[in-house]
Parts: sequence; structure tokens; C-alpha cells
Amino acid sequence: MADGDRIPLDAQSVAAPLSRFAVFLVVTVGASDAALEQARGVVAGVDDLIKTVGFRDLSAHLSCVVGIGSELWDRLSPGARPAELRPFPMVSGARHTAPSTPGDVLFHIRADRVDLVFEFERLLLDALRGAATVASETQGFRYFDARDVLGFVDGTANPVGAELAESVLIGSEDPDFAGGSYVVVQKYLHDLDTWGRLSTEEQESIIGRTKLDNVELDDAPGPQFAHKTLSTIDDGAGGELDILRDNMPFGRPGHGEFGTFFIGYSRRLWVIERMLERMFIGEPTGFHDRILDVSTALTGTTFFVPSRPVLVGLGESEEQTDASPASVSHPSPPADPDESLGIGSLRIGRT
Ligand code: HEM
Repeated sequence: MADGDRIPLDAQSVAAPLSRFAVFLVVTVGASDAALEQARGVVAGVDDLIKTVGFRDLSAHLSCVVGIGSELWDRLSPGARPAELRPFPMVSGARHTAPSTPGDVLFHIRADRVDLVFEFERLLLDALRGAATVASETQGFRYFDARDVLGFVDGTANPVGAELAESVLIGSEDPDFAGGSYVVVQKYLHDLDTWGRLSTEEQESIIGRTKLDNVELDDAPGPQFAHKTLSTIDDGAGGELDILRDNMPFGRPGHGEFGTFFIGYSRRLWVIERMLERMFIGEPTGFHDRILDVSTALTGTTFFVPSRPVLVGLGESEEQTDASPASVSHPSPPADPDESLGIGSLRIGRT
């Protein structure tokens, strides 16, 4: 296929650069048809709202990624569903549990100005009033050189360049949903007093990197692996299956609240689920991730992030289209998995 013949695959701004501020907003949509139709209009029209607010300072790079939960997906688009979309599975180990909590829509709002994030969220919730209830709202901020509140640089091993699209965006394995992604969120609270009583060396062996200069460390001998090893998934051919994380610290020191909002995007939902099993159940079983001894997961929810055309297509209800939205409302999927993604130079790689 010649370059000019390539069909651009317009992904949402999943790969937006790490921002200084973010709001992670999870809402549930009311059971009535009216609530569903109102929410449908809002999610499909989110690009207009990004322009309304973002244009007031383009240098602040306002973006918003919309993810749709498994149950809501079937209400919005009963005709076809992404191959791996399913609710977040509760993961229970001997000591720690990752709970599964409700959520129909995730809005991952990012910008370099907190007022733009605030204004966007205000107008968004105005538009959803009466149709949706806020299940979880977290304001995250960039902490020095992208550190979490445990004091470690967080996000270093994220894929970059061509690997980014290969890791994060669905390709020809699910052609109706190519350009989409799965996203998993969890809100963690930390026990900073207990963490602070560990020596720097102990903390470093739990994370698997040095604290000051962020250099990767080898695991100590024995069955107890560091966080960076437990969260590494082998592709069976000597490589790794990466995910894209944009975790952010949050907190209210006056309330003793210190946390990390975990957010991971992946082309393959099972990869994140496998990471959670390795962290909570342990690998080998019983040797859980010691980061969990000072971190409690309060929420856990999975969403599908449709490509931009599929998201816009969700705005047309079944009655309006009289056909499956997934089959009528977005351009044909790419025949060639190496096609341009319409986001800079990103291309979908082969599985
Ligand atoms: C790596 C922090 C939860 C997946 C890291 C690193 C830190 C960190 C500091 C090392 C630097 C880096 O590569 O980013 C945290 C904290 C968490 C948390 C504070 C919440 C309490 C999770 C969860 C997952 C995850 C729930 C997946 C389900 C990963 C992955 C890496 C990583 C894939 C990179 C591993 C590698 O290839 O080196 N995390 N993390 N993390 N984390 Fe987490």
C-alpha cells in the first residue's frame, strides 16, 4: 500500500505527554433511557468541550481521554464489543486484595494548568448533571521529577517511539476496534509513616531502582522479587509486553492522606491483569509485591478507550442508525497493521 493510501487511525490522546496536573474522574450512568442518551451525547461530544476550554491557552495542552466500562458499553453499543472488554476482576492474595469497584465512564483529564483541568471538569459535570453520579474523583499533580509520594521516579520504563503504539493501541487482532486501548485505574493510599521507617536500601529493593538517581537494580537472590520485576510480563519470545502508565500523586497532608493514582493503558487487557496477579498473589505465590504493605487499593475499574471515530460514532443511538454503531459509525479498519495512527509518527505494529 502506498503511503498516500493509508487510512489514518485516529486514536484518542492516550499518548499525550505527561502533564503537570490531571483529574481522574469516574462516573456511573443512571439506569433510565434518558440518562443513557444524555451521557451518549456528552461522551461523543467531548472533543468540542476540549476545544472550548483548551483553546483559551493552547500552550497548556488540555486533553481528555474517555474510557467506557463493560456494562455501559453494552448499553451504548449492543451490536459489537471489543474482544477483551470485561469488568475489573477482584484479585485476592494471602495478605492484600485489589477490589473491583463500579464505574461506567472514565475521564482522564490532563493539562499543564490546573485551572483548565478544573474548568473542563466543571463544564463536563454540568453537561452530565442528572444523568451521571461521580463514583471517584482524584486531582493528581506532578511531584518534582515525576516522583510518586514514596519518593521514587515513576514512569521511567514506559514505552516510547514505535514501541508506544505497539504496546498501547489495538491493531489488526480486533479490526473493528483498531486504534482503541484498554485502561485500568486504581486509587492507592500509602502509609507514609511505615514507609519512612524503612531504610533507603530497603525501599530500593522493594521498588527495584535506586531512589536518588533512578538506576535499575538487580533483584536480590531468593524468591522475593522487586516491584519492577513483578510488573514485567514476558512475551514468550525474549521480549517484554509494556504498558503505558501515567500515575500521579494526590493527597491532603492535613488529613493524613497520601496516595498514588495508578493508570495503565494497554493494547492487551490481560497483560495488566497478569501484572496485578503477580503483585497481589505473588510470583512465586505468597511472595507478593512489598509495595502493597504500605499501599492500599481503594478502587479498581477497567475501561475501553475507543478510537476517536468510534467514540464519535457512539453519539448515534441504535434507533438513529438502525444498525450496529460499531459497524456503521467509523471508517473502515486498516487492512495494513502498520498504518499511520494520525498521532504524530505513531504506527500500529504487528502482534
Ligand atoms: C514500575 C511505582 C502500581 C506496573 C514502577 C516504578 C515505580 C512504580 C517507582 C519504577 C520506575 C518506572 O519504571 O516507572 C508504583 C506505585 C504504585 C504502582 C507507587 C502504586 C502503589 C503499579 C501497578 C501496576 C504497575 C498496579 C500494574 C498493574 C508497573 C510497570 C513498571 C512499574 C509495568 C515498569 C516495570 C519495568 O519494566 O521496569 N512502578 N507502581 N505499577 N510499575 Fe508500578
